[in-house]
Amino acid sequence: MDAGSPTTIPVAPVTLGIETSCDETAVAILDRDGAVQLNLVSSQVAVHAPYLGVVPELASRRHLEVLPGLLNEAERRVGLGSVELVAVTRGPGLIGALLVGTSFAAAYSWARGLKLAGVDHLEGHLVSPFISLDGRPAAVLPERVLSLVVSGGHSSCFLMVGGEVQALNRTRDDAAGEVFDKVAAALGLPYPGGPVIDRLAESGDPHAFSFAPPRIKDPSGALDYSFSGLKTATIRTAVALGSVPLADPAHPPQRLLDLLASFRHTVVTWLLSPLPELARRHRPQVLALSGGVAANAELRRRLLALGESLGLPTLVPPVPLTTDNAAMIARAGQLKALTGRLDDPLTLRAYPRVPFKGGADPRGRPTFPPLL
Ligand code: KG4
Ligand code: ZN
Repeated sequence: MDAGSPTTIPVAPVTLGIETSCDETAVAILDRDGAVQLNLVSSQVAVHAPYLGVVPELASRRHLEVLPGLLNEAERRVGLGSVELVAVTRGPGLIGALLVGTSFAAAYSWARGLKLAGVDHLEGHLVSPFISLDGRPAAVLPERVLSLVVSGGHSSCFLMVGGEVQALNRTRDDAAGEVFDKVAAALGLPYPGGPVIDRLAESGDPHAFSFAPPRIKDPSGALDYSFSGLKTATIRTAVALGSVPLADPAHPPQRLLDLLASFRHTVVTWLLSPLPELARRHRPQVLALSGGVAANAELRRRLLALGESLGLPTLVPPVPLTTDNAAMIARAGQLKALTGRLDDPLTLRAYPRVPFKGGADPRGRPTFPPLL
């Protein structure tokens, strides 16, 4: 090949990513190699903290107020003139919040004659371990990836084969992030509870308390999760310790730190428990972790150790890309654009929950249109 011939590595369009599905307003720009040029996140945590959860109407209003300013900042810092594709989260999430992002993205792409890709929020989390924040190009998605996605709404293992995504299991009740948030709320700890419990748990004994694993009827062998029994047991134990509500949330007693460490340890143990069997069944080349709970220090440590013991390369996203962000949405949009799966700005629709366009496998589990 002479120096002037075109490269055979597929280059993606320069992409503006927009994420507004829940309580973060986010904008990102990725270059043609999927390297992150800019990643802006405006968190609404302070807006919702007094209510111990996200208030949908407040979230939509805040997205409306903040999004134009983030675009102006992007223009100032890297410029928007080279953008070729707009990628936006179209679901699942809070419908009002999603409509702010999808309406904005559709109007922006239409007015400027840019391509548009509507992205599923979960597809964004799934590609997040393959993006870096140090200017490196995005890593190529291997043919077979076993991916654990743990957030406020999800606790599931997914198999990605050739970019096609299949859910392997799910939680029968609460998601892991939700359980962190609910335990924290019951104790009077600040919202969101995941990062707070994670930090406090570092000072406790993870083996001080033990919890009985859930008894799940599982005839299909899907290895589903269940966390609501653990949540109740943890809160009951905290009540029995006389720690509800905490007298001084900034300095919980040692016994409560032990309880929180044991709770975190148990969540992580249960999250990891299906992975060896799923790896045996599905023979992935790579193990990956994503979602807000992927920021959890013990989960990151133990997943990396598990990957090593299974002989599998293991990828965890940079911590800022674990919670909702637009870089992951932009990258998922790039992968869609590379296979020509674009959307029409005049017909793009937001959807609040799964199931969405992907359909279902023979066991009724959702599958996605291929990413690649
Ligand atoms: O992915 P995400 O930002 O939003 C959803 O799509 O749900 O995840 C938010 C969730 C919250 O439940 C939050 O408490 C949890 O991720 N989280 C954590 C940690 N950081 C965030 N959970 C445990 N440990 C953490 N360090
Ligand atoms: Zn998320």
